[in-house]
Amino acid sequence: MDERWLIEQFKWLHRHPELGLREYETTAFVKDALRKHGVELLDAELETGAIAVVGRKDGPVVGLRCDMDALPIQEASGLDYASENAGVMHACGHDFHTACMLGAALLLKEREASLPGAVKVIFQPAEEIDNGAKLVVATGMLDDVRAFYAVHSYPWFEPGTLGIKAGPVMGAADRFAIRLKGRGAHAAHPEKSVDVIPALAAVIGSAQSVVSRNVSPFDCAVVSVTRVQAGTTWNIIPGEAELEGTVRTLSPAVRDDVQRRLEQVVRLTAEAYGCTAEIEFERGTDPVVNDASACERAAALAREMGFTVGRQEDALEAEDFSDYLNIAPGAFIRVGTGGTCAAHHPGFTADPAALLPAARYFAALAERELERLNREDMR
Ligand code: NI
Repeated sequence: MDERWLIEQFKWLHRHPELGLREYETTAFVKDALRKHGVELLDAELETGAIAVVGRKDGPVVGLRCDMDALPIQEASGLDYASENAGVMHACGHDFHTACMLGAALLLKEREASLPGAVKVIFQPAEEIDNGAKLVVATGMLDDVRAFYAVHSYPWFEPGTLGIKAGPVMGAADRFAIRLKGRGAHAAHPEKSVDVIPALAAVIGSAQSVVSRNVSPFDCAVVSVTRVQAGTTWNIIPGEAELEGTVRTLSPAVRDDVQRRLEQVVRLTAEAYGCTAEIEFERGTDPVVNDASACERAAALAREMGFTVGRQEDALEAEDFSDYLNIAPGAFIRVGTGGTCAAHHPGFTADPAALLPAARYFAALAERELERLNREDMR
């Protein structure tokens, strides 16, 4: 596999972005490239996405994961290989991730005879809509994986730098919905109502105090109210109101605390205004928590291969790589891809120069991990 070929695959993927669970062309393209190079595909029965396997069946198993879906964004990158699908764009580098792991799979294939185990390369659908990892995990085909590594592009590092950090790196993303109940009345007669509007305003205000007054300034949490709904017209006091929003946290303890305090504050605030509150708290994606020793090994290899290791910033966006880390430990690794725009921006770009080094790195990392697991098993 040479660099020109790999960059061509990346550019093709960039030109043909597809939204989550609709990655049909992308899946066909990836499977075709893998088959052409003799890489075995597992019969995962995924509608979109794929799992490839390289190596020996009787040894330990390591997982490499990339995601394949794009975003509903109109591209404005100015690239000569910009998206050909109107309103859809690879603005989070998932094209880079896919090409990177395609490259890693082919590099591992070249060394298949000497691999002391198997590498499962996961081409995950629907990361952006938060259910792709669950579909892949539900196939049961990753139950034997003992270490997982994921790639993610990172515009704030130049090519040649990897971001590797132990501990939580991406947040838990939970959703809450609140229904306030009072009693409606004519707007001219508030005394006949139990008005939900002042209760609603107070609930929004006091929800903000949960983070500022209950979470240590050395921890982090976000409470965002993102939807508010009450009333139908100007002269009627409504009897019901609805609120929706999200809580983002990095640690399980803070997550529990914020949920408990939010429920309490909302219930009691509503009560103070004579209203009742029903709160639905729905736990979403778990935080991505990188394993400390996995990070140590990953960083040592990165330095050995000539990369600079930077400290990646924590982020509170959801990342469903956490679903794999619930099976086995591992790390979510950022690859410096340069550029001037953040992920999810219409001007986002990923420098193709970072591609081959990243593919080589993940292939080497998987092989190293197989050797380590073999040593462990021999003990
Ligand atoms: Ni992403």
